[in-house]
Amino acid sequence: MGNLPPKEFMPKHIGIIMDGNGRWAKERGLERTKGHIEGAKVFRTISDYCHEIGIEVVTFYAFSTENWKRPASEITALMKLFKEYLLEADEIKFDRQNRGYVLRFLGDTKAIPKELSKLCDSTQLDIKDPDTTIVNIALNYGGRQEIVHSVKEIAEKVKNGELKPSDITEDTISNGLYTAGMPDPDLIIRPSGELRLSNFLTWQSAYSELWFSDVLWPDFTTEDLDKAIMDYAKRNRRFGAV
Ligand code: IPE
Ligand code: IPE
Ligand code: MG
Repeated sequence: MGNLPPKEFMPKHIGIIMDGNGRWAKERGLERTKGHIEGAKVFRTISDYCHEIGIEVVTFYAFSTENWKRPASEITALMKLFKEYLLEADEIKFDRQNRGYVLRFLGDTKAIPKELSKLCDSTQLDIKDPDTTIVNIALNYGGRQEIVHSVKEIAEKVKNGELKPSDITEDTISNGLYTAGMPDPDLIIRPSGELRLSNFLTWQSAYSELWFSDVLWPDFTTEDLDKAIMDYAKRNRRFGAV
């Protein structure tokens, strides 16, 4: 374990935009898919490490609602990687000594290949004890799509007379998001040099601290995560107050 702040200065929820796989591969004269394979290894390392250092929730952006614009061959390769990981996760899901975390999926997982969406359902576990880290995988996720999803549920309730429009609050919307019941991300990390959120946790990131790095995701290490957390711990979060 590296150099980390005391527990009260640690973020509870970290969001990570796993970006730069394609450029990593290109720099080495490899196909983009090879970058995704390396990126998937880093995902495993970083999710294990988040549990080791006691992070409550970590959300990885794996595939956005906009990523369907990519070539079919790249999408197929990504889906294959997700499947491999989920099959592995399915096997170890009850072995909590082995990996003390539970998986959750954020996004429209009904609109991905059937086999994958079934695996998403079977690998999601409802265990929650204080030592368990929640590892969210944002898969076919879009922040705007998520808000639309919540608003549709609310509209149904209003239509059925279960809810009055005047009773709608921020919590009503939050409770309809895929992250319902989880704290908002304290810290959002984006490697690869891009300075944007690309539709990640749009509602939840209202007061998140952002941390950017030029490192490409396949080169991202636990030391980089330590650096981001140390930087976060020094920030003054005011939430609009003085
Ligand atoms: C992130 O890496 C992985 C996904 C979006 C699935 P990219 O594939 O976006 O890599 P770059 O940004 O092209 O380097
Ligand atoms: C964001 O990365 C999505 C994921 C990492 C899954 P992109 O590579 O798709 O983002 P843009 O297109 O550069 O904004
Ligand atoms: Mg990218």
